[in-house]
Amino acid sequence: MCGIVAYVGERTAYPILIKGLQRLEYRGYDSAGIALINHGTKVYKCKGKVKDLEEHSKGKDITGTIGMGHTRWATHGEPSDANAHPHTSMNGKFTVIHNGIIENYAHLKRELTARGYAFQSQTDTEVLANFIESIYSENQVDAELAVRLALTKVIGAYGLVISCIDEPGKLIAARKGSPLVIGVGKGEYFLASDATPIIEYTDQVIFMNDEDVAVITRDHLDLKNIQNDMLVPKVQKIELSIDEIDKCGYEHFMLKEIHEQPHTISDTFRGRISMDQSNLFLGGITDVLPRLVQARRIIIIACGTSWHAGLVGEYLFEEYARIPVEVEYASEFRYRNPVIYADDVIIAISQSGETADTLAAIKMAKESGALILGVCNVAGSSIARETDAGVYTHAGIEIGVASTKAFTSQVTVLMMMAFLLGKKRNLISQEAYEELIAGLTQIPDKIQEILSDEQYIKGIGETYKDATNALYLGRGNLYPVALEGALKLKEISYIHAEGYPAAEMKHGPIALIDENMPVFIIATKDKSYEKIVSNIQEVKARNGKVIAVVTKGDDVIVKMADHVIEVPECHEALAPLVTIIPLQIISYYIAVLRGCNVDQPRNLAKSVTVE
Ligand code: F6R
Repeated sequence: MCGIVAYVGERTAYPILIKGLQRLEYRGYDSAGIALINHGTKVYKCKGKVKDLEEHSKGKDITGTIGMGHTRWATHGEPSDANAHPHTSMNGKFTVIHNGIIENYAHLKRELTARGYAFQSQTDTEVLANFIESIYSENQVDAELAVRLALTKVIGAYGLVISCIDEPGKLIAARKGSPLVIGVGKGEYFLASDATPIIEYTDQVIFMNDEDVAVITRDHLDLKNIQNDMLVPKVQKIELSIDEIDKCGYEHFMLKEIHEQPHTISDTFRGRISMDQSNLFLGGITDVLPRLVQARRIIIIACGTSWHAGLVGEYLFEEYARIPVEVEYASEFRYRNPVIYADDVIIAISQSGETADTLAAIKMAKESGALILGVCNVAGSSIARETDAGVYTHAGIEIGVASTKAFTSQVTVLMMMAFLLGKKRNLISQEAYEELIAGLTQIPDKIQEILSDEQYIKGIGETYKDATNALYLGRGNLYPVALEGALKLKEISYIHAEGYPAAEMKHGPIALIDENMPVFIIATKDKSYEKIVSNIQEVKARNGKVIAVVTKGDDVIVKMADHVIEVPECHEALAPLVTIIPLQIISYYIAVLRGCNVDQPRNLAKSVTVE
């Protein structure tokens, strides 16, 4: 949600900023802008994508070895040239880029307006730029102090980069709630919302913490808190390769990430399964395992796709560990005064580790004394740091806005947790435990097999590319797969799609079914098989079009459905991992065939750092 990149050093900043913005574009892409500092500050910004900004900057002065860039996902004010960042204060003293929301901006704006400040945009960021300038001018303090004083009065979340025209050669960065990483080079520093714009130049980074302020010149970095206490920067090496942020020949990141799943799932379980496949080890939660084993209840909090992974977790924890589970939207949980017991365990699931609602729900739940675990993909992210312990998913950076490989890795982690808990609580035999573990290790090959049917699945997508609605049905642990399949289709192709538990269809959605309604039914062989066969008949009796995901060799559904997509047989506990793959592929191709921007669907952003 908004991408920030900045540079201070000896190189020309412009190409670093543009390339950085291209890498960050998955975070927001409705407008983009840069400020270049070189005997004054030049700001170029426009509505649209980074390529529009490049076009807009053509023929202009792009010199300068200090600069900042921003790619926006609109919160306050529609996408427009005026609302694009950077924002400069009224008297030109301060230039600011910002990720987050200043919640008390309306109040600050009223006060500033009364003191004669005028505004060019509808953004909260421009208010902040002017607020800093007012403190600077009225108190005759230096830029850094003006920034720190302003931030003590600000309510909300921010990742900020700020320059002051009177102090050229210096950038001031601050973080609260929105991520910022400092890249440490030789005689140069980088700043970015994540490490992707930085890794080309240095693998040494500092993850800023909430309320940190960094004052950066070409050859010096001061890290302090808002109260002006100096901090010792913790420089870390990042493990991220250029290949991971490249499409590597695929047309879209989403397709690349769909294809990566055999590897990413292996990466999730690698090192966590004993050599003889008789046991599981989850290093990140070993110390707190006794509390988890004794949990009175597990509450899973997450948003979107991660919430769907949580629903799969609910089935597994209850089935194998017999611990009651509640799965909550973080955005609802945080505001509804939930009852949380000190012996509950909260599991927060988040790919980015930065989702504002999930982060706030964790902070709220902490007061209860419950153990809080994280299942995150991004190492060092806010949620990973805010939780007591956790398990990383190790899916690698996910750039496509529609989550694919992160989902299957989250589900893999939850499976391992559920099986381990079942074993520790003596509810599953060693034999059953080993069968589940062995089954999990075979999943990557099974996914590879499904991927080899990509062209066939694409062909089915072609048949339904002009649909206006779609239904997705599943039962048991495949009901969350139906929800996830529907979400994938709607978010990238803009076709209205709903996921339902198959048996719920009769209680309303069946009214929608006619010959134009594609109904995707996940109908692999499990204990509900007979029931889902009946659901297929109900759809066919109303002339609906059935696209069924079935177990290889199924000879019953093949006679009833309009199309079948076979997936290899697997243990029913593991079926979510294989059945989601064809649904991801079909959504991808339907969106491509409809001419949609698959990696950057309209109105969306990869990491939702505002509530
Ligand atoms: C959908 C999608 C979103 C995210 C949601 C939570 O494809 O990606 O629904 O799952 O915004 O994000 P994280 O997992 O980063 O907390």
